[in-house]
Amino acid sequence: MSVISMARYSKKFSQLYDEVMYLPDTIFLKIRRKRLLKGLAGKILEVGVGTGTNFQHYSNNSEVVGIEPSPYMFAKAENRKNRLPFPNRFTLHNIGCGDSEMKDLIQPESLDAVVCTLVLCTIPEPEKALSSFMKWLKPGGRLVVLEHIRAHRLAGMKIQNLFNPVWEKLAEGCQLNRATDILLAESGFELVRENRFWLGMPFYEAELKKAGKDT
Ligand SMILES: C[S@@+](CC[C@H](N)C(=O)[O-])C[C@H]1O[C@@H](n2cnc3c(N)ncnc32)[C@H](O)[C@@H]1O
Repeated sequence: MSVISMARYSKKFSQLYDEVMYLPDTIFLKIRRKRLLKGLAGKILEVGVGTGTNFQHYSNNSEVVGIEPSPYMFAKAENRKNRLPFPNRFTLHNIGCGDSEMKDLIQPESLDAVVCTLVLCTIPEPEKALSSFMKWLKPGGRLVVLEHIRAHRLAGMKIQNLFNPVWEKLAEGCQLNRATDILLAESGFELVRENRFWLGMPFYEAELKKAGKDT
């Protein structure tokens, strides 16, 4: 794909994202997003905010820094933020979590929580991202995730492996077969709670904690 057609596709993806996600979000994911986010307070980093689907769920006690590398998704998120009753609680940046600008944006041990929903499947080098989250969180800080994951059964894995080359092109780098639950289990975070569910593919919802007393 040429750079121009990639940019065109990226724009189309951002335009269609909310429509494609409307039903799964409304029926299955909204309640989980709300459950994960409503209790968070303090300084929160949301990684890959997309169109800003999560914004409505943050509590009044939160100050959210959102990052999003796609300029098209970013523009939609900015729009959504400006329609919120309290837009000042959000600061958005058009960058990705591996970008050098993150160093100035987030200081070590400065965050109360990191939020990743449907994003650890797409981030290149997720292990590196998890170790950055560990560095940026205060002791006791929370990492909350909502992700599709690799199937546990061999047949499911084979199907995911088969479809992944097409899927990653259609879904802007998303890896259908990424074992994010295993990456999290090996990341050094302590598990607070987890929940596995099926939504056409296996999904994982979890709250994890950096060692230390609660923030
Ligand atoms: C499937 S969308 C999920 C959007 C949103 N988090 C949600 O729950 O609806 C994945 C998002 O991750 C973003 N993304 C990709 N690479 C990233 C990176 N390195 N850092 C942060 N976000 C990234 C994409 O641009 C896209 O908006």
